[in-house]
Amino acid sequence: KYLQQNDVVEEFKDLVFSLPREKGWVASYVHQYQGFWHTTRQIQGVLSCQKHFKSLDNDILLVSTPKSGTTWLKAIIFSLVNRSTFPDTKHNHPLLTTNPHVLVPFLELDLYVETNHVPDLSAISKASFDRPRLFSTHLPYVSLPESVKTSACKIVYLCRNPKDIFVSLWHFTNRLRPESWGQNSMEESFDKFCNGVSLYGPFWDHLLGYWKVSSETERPEKVLFLNYDEMRKEPFSHVKKLAEFVGFPFSVEEEANGDVARILELCSFDNLSNLEVNKSGKLWSGEENKAFFRRGEVGDWTNHLTPEMAEKLDSLVEQKLHGSGLKF
Ligand code: A3P
Repeated sequence: KYLQQNDVVEEFKDLVFSLPREKGWVASYVHQYQGFWHTTRQIQGVLSCQKHFKSLDNDILLVSTPKSGTTWLKAIIFSLVNRSTFPDTKHNHPLLTTNPHVLVPFLELDLYVETNHVPDLSAISKASFDRPRLFSTHLPYVSLPESVKTSACKIVYLCRNPKDIFVSLWHFTNRLRPESWGQNSMEESFDKFCNGVSLYGPFWDHLLGYWKVSSETERPEKVLFLNYDEMRKEPFSHVKKLAEFVGFPFSVEEEANGDVARILELCSFDNLSNLEVNKSGKLWSGEENKAFFRRGEVGDWTNHLTPEMAEKLDSLVEQKLHGSGLKF
């Protein structure tokens, strides 16, 4: 599944091979494009969706840094936008039989990754009836397709504390590596992460790109900036805020009826990770669904990082985010 150099389509060859290149975490190489690192496969999806994707004013785009809890937020957004169609979260709900990544596809990793083929999104529009289309991406703000920035489409951005992101990414990428390649050592991966050479890294620039847009007073309605750790602490208030932001606020009756709690229960780590589809299913791209459910805890980094590593990452983050108002 991981493309080698000679798998780059003719259309993008000159550009891809002119970019700075480093050894990848899973794939052979990552390439630096518009300041961020992408695998060979992914960069073609990036270029293709930049060229072809046209967002509609009522689209909702979920953006995240990889391993920030994207799977969870996809499940939550899908269930709250579609709750009038699927009110029964226990017996008859798409999430009970379908992985969240299928319900909310990635632009550059799913829809546009087949570079010789521009996807027909009319099926998605049709399936959403009068509801917004739901898409996701890990793209940094600078690389978003132009129409996403200029249209009224809403962006929900999710981040997480970088120490847990790193630990989650290290586990995830080792899982994706073919067995014969062996595992990446934690030390080598940590250095790469701190140098910004990680999937869609540097993570600090990814965060800052969206933080700036969300904190610019002229466009508060454009980006909702969420943090996994805070959502885990106070899920109710965050889901209500998210529902309001995307234009599907909970009514007093719905709240009293326990609708928020039902969605949180449906999307909880324990519930989703124990469903058959997520225990034994696979995505079309080959990843096992269970790879997206590991521990789902805040602070698991304490079980993996030495005090020196934690200190190094903390001070790096502090230095990179200095003056932005953003803190972890
Ligand atoms: P850990 O590796 O720390 O367990 P992403 O979805 O962006 O790839 O992020 C994956 C991380 O989110 C993993 O973190 C995973 O366990 C956690 N996660 C997945 N589903 C979740 C859920 N329903 N609730 C909370 N966390 C979840």
